[in-house]
Amino acid sequence: MKIAIIGSGHVGLTTGICFAEKGHEVICVDHDTDKLARLRNGEVWFFEPKLPELLKKHHSSKRLRFTDSTAEAVKFASVIFICVGTPTGESGKADMRYVEKVARDIAETMTDYRLIVEKSTVPIMTGERVKSTILRYVRGDAHFDVASNPEFLREGSAIDDTLKPDRIVIGVDSAKAETLLREIYAPFEAPMVVTSIGSAELIKHASNSFLALKISFINWIARVCEQSGADVHEVARGMGLDARIGAAFLNAGIGYGGSCFPKDVEALAAISEELGVEAPLIRLISQINREQRERFFEAIQHELWVLQDKTIALWGLSFKPNTDDLREAPSLWLAQRLLKAGAKLRVHDPVAMPAFKRAISDVYFAKDPLDATSGADALVLCTEWPQYREVDLAKVKATLRVPLIFDGRNCLDRRQAEELGMTLIGVGKQRIGPRGKH
Ligand code: UGA
Repeated sequence: MKIAIIGSGHVGLTTGICFAEKGHEVICVDHDTDKLARLRNGEVWFFEPKLPELLKKHHSSKRLRFTDSTAEAVKFASVIFICVGTPTGESGKADMRYVEKVARDIAETMTDYRLIVEKSTVPIMTGERVKSTILRYVRGDAHFDVASNPEFLREGSAIDDTLKPDRIVIGVDSAKAETLLREIYAPFEAPMVVTSIGSAELIKHASNSFLALKISFINWIARVCEQSGADVHEVARGMGLDARIGAAFLNAGIGYGGSCFPKDVEALAAISEELGVEAPLIRLISQINREQRERFFEAIQHELWVLQDKTIALWGLSFKPNTDDLREAPSLWLAQRLLKAGAKLRVHDPVAMPAFKRAISDVYFAKDPLDATSGADALVLCTEWPQYREVDLAKVKATLRVPLIFDGRNCLDRRQAEELGMTLIGVGKQRIGPRGKH
């Protein structure tokens, strides 16, 4: 099948490359000519495992090419996927200007039947808007269908999530659209859920908000654990073994970040309120998430008493492991609070330091994790990269001025910390080490 992808960001590029991998002929469009030049050179400007290798593979297979011309893509492809950004606009609602512009561009260049598929995360009822926009701007009587095919990939495992999805959701209102999408997805061997366009749009927002709800729920339980002496890992394990609950997304920590959960939860609340449905539960998801990082900062401040001139090592800057994405990363917020309180920071991340430097530069960028902890009054961990999980805490202790750790992801070896006589403060867990010792 000949496919066009409009918007070659994280979702668009991954989708295009995976379609090429499954044998389709793909053209990816982006208006950013610098990015296009890099892509044509086989370079990806963000960190995502397996993506560069597959990009190179499909340069060679000739099943993937890039252009800045939507008209060229519309001429080439019979199915067009809209994958442009929908950032948070005023009052928490998604800003739809890029989707609307793409719909107009497609309409103005379409001369015969095209299937236009929304893959960007869009508010419910966008399908209707895209359809009416195309109808308004289309020249002649070119027929078209609009469909919704929400994306469920996670950054850091985008390729595997796309090639082996749990499910494929397609929202359609014509048999022709369903047939075309079934043909595209036939090589993917995943269960297919066929719905109305409106249901498909809501499935995406409901899924992301539910996952965010699980995280905020366990983070709230973590607070109860801290006050009651219970352990959040034990509680989550006991809950998660119930097949109706499931163990995934019950890791307590300093809250979710990224370009999806914060935005999608806000957007679901905003749109449902606009529809006249109050959204207190959805609003609380975001509130608990914000509080989680504030509580973590307060715990650091409480323990260290005075932050002015304290040296703090910060491990893990990206919003989650295996990405260099800093959007809504708890580390950024925390770094700003610590700096404002007068602390000096020694930061480390396996891949996100260049991106962090563009946002905050008045910190020391460490060569490796132990360079960051060297001489520090405390270590603060924000992101559970594997190399931090596996670190030998004896080496960390030898470099720190004070053997004090705040583990925002509960991923460090608690037993070793105890044996070494260190103080370890996690989330929803009892502290290791006596109070007030350091
Ligand atoms: C999320 C969804 O998981 C994807 O299904 C969806 O396609 C994507 O949003 C999107 O809408 O595009 P992503 O934001 O890449 O994917 O990353 P996740 O793995 O979901 O993690 C999100 C945040 O939740 C991270 O900050 C992570 O640290 C946090 N998290 C996750 C927790 O705090 N606890 C957990 O148990 C799980």
